Amino acid sequence: HRYRDPGAGDKMVPFAEQEAWENCQSGKATLKSGSRNKQASADYEFVFEDGIGFIKESIMDGVNLEDEMSSEKPDDSTTKNALQKLQEERKTLPIHPYRDELLQAIHDHQVMVIVGETGSGKTTQIPQYLHEAGYTKRGLVGCTQPRRVAAMSVAARVSQEMGVKLGHEVGYSIRFEDCSSEKTILKYMTDGMLLREFLSEPDLASYSVIMVDEGHERTLSTDILFGLVKDVTRFRKDLKLLISSATLDAKKFSDYFDSAPIFKIPGRRFPVTINFTIAPEADYIDAAIVTVLQIHVTQPPGDILVFLTGQEEIETIDEILEYRTRGFGTKIAELIICPIYANLPTELQAKIFEPTPDGARKVVLATNIAETSLTIDGIKYVVDPGFCKIKSYNPRTGMESLLINPISKASAMQRAGRSGRTGPGMCFRLYTEYNFQHDLDDNAVPEIQRTNLANVVLTLKSLGVNDLVNFDFMDPPPSEALLEALGQLYALNALNSLGELTKIGRRMAEFPLDPMLSKMIVASEKYKCSEEAITIASMLSIGNSIFYRPKNKQVHADNARMNFHTGNVGDHIALLNVYNTWKETNYSTQWCYENYIQVRSMKRARDIRDQLEGLLERVEIEPTSNLSDLDAVKKAITSGFFHHSAKLQKTGAYRTVKKPQTVHIHPSSGLAEVLPRWVIYHELVLTTKEYMRQVTELKPEWLIEIAPHYYQMKDVEDASTTKMPRGKGLAAD
Ligand code: CDP
Ligand code: MG
Repeated sequence: HRYRDPGAGDKMVPFAEQEAWENCQSGKATLKSGSRNKQASADYEFVFEDGIGFIKESIMDGVNLEDEMSSEKPDDSTTKNALQKLQEERKTLPIHPYRDELLQAIHDHQVMVIVGETGSGKTTQIPQYLHEAGYTKRGLVGCTQPRRVAAMSVAARVSQEMGVKLGHEVGYSIRFEDCSSEKTILKYMTDGMLLREFLSEPDLASYSVIMVDEGHERTLSTDILFGLVKDVTRFRKDLKLLISSATLDAKKFSDYFDSAPIFKIPGRRFPVTINFTIAPEADYIDAAIVTVLQIHVTQPPGDILVFLTGQEEIETIDEILEYRTRGFGTKIAELIICPIYANLPTELQAKIFEPTPDGARKVVLATNIAETSLTIDGIKYVVDPGFCKIKSYNPRTGMESLLINPISKASAMQRAGRSGRTGPGMCFRLYTEYNFQHDLDDNAVPEIQRTNLANVVLTLKSLGVNDLVNFDFMDPPPSEALLEALGQLYALNALNSLGELTKIGRRMAEFPLDPMLSKMIVASEKYKCSEEAITIASMLSIGNSIFYRPKNKQVHADNARMNFHTGNVGDHIALLNVYNTWKETNYSTQWCYENYIQVRSMKRARDIRDQLEGLLERVEIEPTSNLSDLDAVKKAITSGFFHHSAKLQKTGAYRTVKKPQTVHIHPSSGLAEVLPRWVIYHELVLTTKEYMRQVTELKPEWLIEIAPHYYQMKDVEDASTTKMPRGKGLAAD
């Protein structure tokens, strides 16, 4: 019961909205959910009679409590300008007293591991120290982050501290968005972007220092970077390499980097009271909401940080909290709700860092990003449901899924620690101590051991790393997964039978996309539809945020969406229709509103498309359009996604052709009611069932035509013999 589906489409609103609203209006708040009933008396002396009970368990020892005074922010005398104030603030960070010692150590050692509590100033300060010490005269200081939001927000902060415009001296680079210039000396970037930079600059010649930040996150790209930068430091003795980590488990990093010295920045942490629930919570979303409200009405001032698993969950809770606090009136302090997740528009991200106004309380609803990547000041209460979304990959079935899983003990400790940064804190764990002790692993499994490696293998091959088995991995991936990736790239014609990169593979590697998408684009040359292929790739890269369905207008929204599906063209072509129609309206915002399409997502698709267009030129594929022949477009898609074919069964479910597995068309698909006999899908998502998302009808003979080395007649020959339950599918003729 500790596992929950991400629940695409099945948003939870677990309480009687109308009733609660009316009660709030009449001054009597009834917070009702599931079997529980939280009563509040009329004068807002909230007594959560049978709210969630917590037991206090342990208290973390505080360290350096005497620093309490020095952590206070300098006073806001009006004579100081903002820049000076920021400079003063820099001096209050835990890392500040160690500045000179740190620079000396970096001077003395080529590779160093730096460990320090989240918020001590590693990410924002170390690159600035390096700049002040003159390292930027010899080249860029690059700092990698596992998350794009972190790269952007940290770069913004550092540019403020340095008093320069973002994108000038301080810049960032994330996939499809380069906010740096010739002036840039401090560059924050995602680990994936640095990985791609290796393709054009294998010795990282333009850098004087590389800081691989958040090493403990062990993302796939970070792990690969470890191997690559370690190699570079052997032949570029002038390149400094810093590996930073928020956890104390730095010995592993040190051992890997030939016993590199470890520099510890003493933390400044206050005691944190940890509370566990008395009994397991059946619905952690509901439990989180109730806990936030409990804290808000019963606890002294201080902001709240809630750890959630993703955007959808955050939006749900945002909505419910917003709603439940609406009736609070003036007697209860204002609750400012601040969401933060990867796809949150930049202009809204800044909100979480704004100081909370007097008399109000902020509640930050965050994904794992707030665990170590971002420091939010003023957090005093942490609500930890104990879950995060984890990608896992089954090399046997070749299926990748993003599932909600329990976090590790290490994560739980990190999360709790977020409440004790500026004063004593409290952490509310929405699970029992027994769960903590017995159900949580000590550490998370590194991503490299639970993901599809096709992308990395293609990148490594393009870098000339041919012997993958002997690559210097910190923790090697399962050999099954490596073989599967090699097999997949071979099937895509990206590798030859000797495992060497082919011309197709070389072209594919130019695109910062999943190999299947890259292959679709490269193959579109043959079908004279490269314009369509890059549009579809851009739209698919946006994810599921193109259409929206406002609660009270779902029918209108669905009708608008189905307009793009006229003729049951399939979801890929529908996405293409959306983009092209938008383009015809001269990228009109009004048109987006009228068609229930998110204009922000469309703009992003347009940006991505522009870049893919540039890359087409680089691999010398001519931009050609072939809109009159949709089969050609579908064949290009099939060239990339032929692994993802499925056939309708008599039961009405589908079965994947290779590595058979039962799957279904996602209800949001334009083909959900059509049920074509053969389909190709973009991805599988596991919610209540194993769903195919973004589906297009396929003629089975295309599989043989396009991937003769992967499909044999026997895979498709029963096509015309099986009876179809519905008559709309294409027969193989
Ligand atoms: O990297 P580390 O966790 O050690 O700390 P950091 O990210 O460098 O944060 C140091 C300080 O900068 C914290 O007090 C943050 O509140 C502040 N900061 C900020 O105000 N805005 C950001 N976008 C990032 C950091
Ligand atoms: Mg950091």
